[in-house]
Amino acid sequence: MKKKDSQKNMYAHSEKKVELLQKYLEIYLNVLSNTFVKRINLFDLFCGPGIYENEGIGSPFIMLQEIKKASTINNKKAIEYNCLFNDNDREVIEVLKRNVKSKIDHCYAKINYSCQDYKDVIRATILSMQELLNSEKAFAFIDPYQYKDISISEIESMLCTKKTEILLFLPTQFMFRFESNGTPKSLKRFIEELVPMEEWPKSNTGIDFIQSLKEHFKNHLGNDYYVDTFIIQREVNQYFSLFFFTSNILGFEKMLEAKWKIDKDEGRGWIYEHSYNLFSGNKSSITQKFENELKEYLSRSRTNKEVYEFTLHNGHLPKHTNEVLKAWQNEGILSVLKSDGEQTIKGSFYLNYKDWRDHPGKVTIQTKLQ
Ligand SMILES: C[S@@+](CC[C@H](N)C(=O)[O-])C[C@H]1O[C@@H](n2cnc3c(N)ncnc32)[C@H](O)[C@@H]1O
Repeated sequence: MKKKDSQKNMYAHSEKKVELLQKYLEIYLNVLSNTFVKRINLFDLFCGPGIYENEGIGSPFIMLQEIKKASTINNKKAIEYNCLFNDNDREVIEVLKRNVKSKIDHCYAKINYSCQDYKDVIRATILSMQELLNSEKAFAFIDPYQYKDISISEIESMLCTKKTEILLFLPTQFMFRFESNGTPKSLKRFIEELVPMEEWPKSNTGIDFIQSLKEHFKNHLGNDYYVDTFIIQREVNQYFSLFFFTSNILGFEKMLEAKWKIDKDEGRGWIYEHSYNLFSGNKSSITQKFENELKEYLSRSRTNKEVYEFTLHNGHLPKHTNEVLKAWQNEGILSVLKSDGEQTIKGSFYLNYKDWRDHPGKVTIQTKLQ
């Protein structure tokens, strides 16, 4: 069958997808190299040819490059890497094999190629994730053209193992377009896995649709799981999104770091103008929204553990919360107390993974009534 141009060449919006994948894997593999993990299993379930005709680099090559980096930079301990590259198009898998053979001199991973339909490979993937040892981790990249085969219950089954992180691309713009326009069966099925169709809110824009989806994923999966999005704009008002899922709070923080790094480079990131700054008033809507949510949340006393979790659940980094809290401290509207009721050193809020794990109640934080 004749291939579409998008199957032969990599487009700019797809480069954004793999940029996030690359940044995330770079941090994730580096973090895991300092832990007890002995084997990392990477699954690319809609893998494509690895290298496109216009030289664009696809997800399997990004995985192999990052594995090589992690294996050569971190020679502290040997980690075994397994990759499963799957695509239902046999020709694509043959091209990928040839590309790996001709372009990679030393491969640091054991590669299994598979040519199955997603519906079949996902079942086998879940089973193998359920059998992972405690010293193993898994990461799945799911990058379909369409959403019709994607099922939330399968995402949940992978997450339940508590050893897996998932990056899922969804063509949300197409989903949004049909949300209230003769909703097709496949979209109804997708939404109804999350909420009865009549409870699904009508979205005004593609971005609204993505936000709704994220909130419903979060509600459906519950507090033990973390979900965030990375929005990719294709054309004016056309938004597609990557969704990231994990049960691992540190993995989630690392993913947010990767995302904020790209957002910063693109100018959509975090700009916090302290309110005592003469030139304040420039806060972006993202920053302002988070500040308002944090103020509301801290109207009750919260521990550093709770504030760390709140920050991440809301898609922000501890350094963002630290900035806001410092400004409030300077304005005299924040109380931060140690567990013995004493004041803490100014600017210390203990919002980090280590204190979350080892000293979850080191301080309590609350805004003061004005
Ligand atoms: C969006 S592309 C993947 C791009 C790839 N992740 C990359 O970064 O280059 C989707 C790929 O999935 C394959 N595909 C389409 N439907 C599939 C299915 N039902 N099961 C498995 N693979 C499928 C296509 O042949 C195509 O190569």
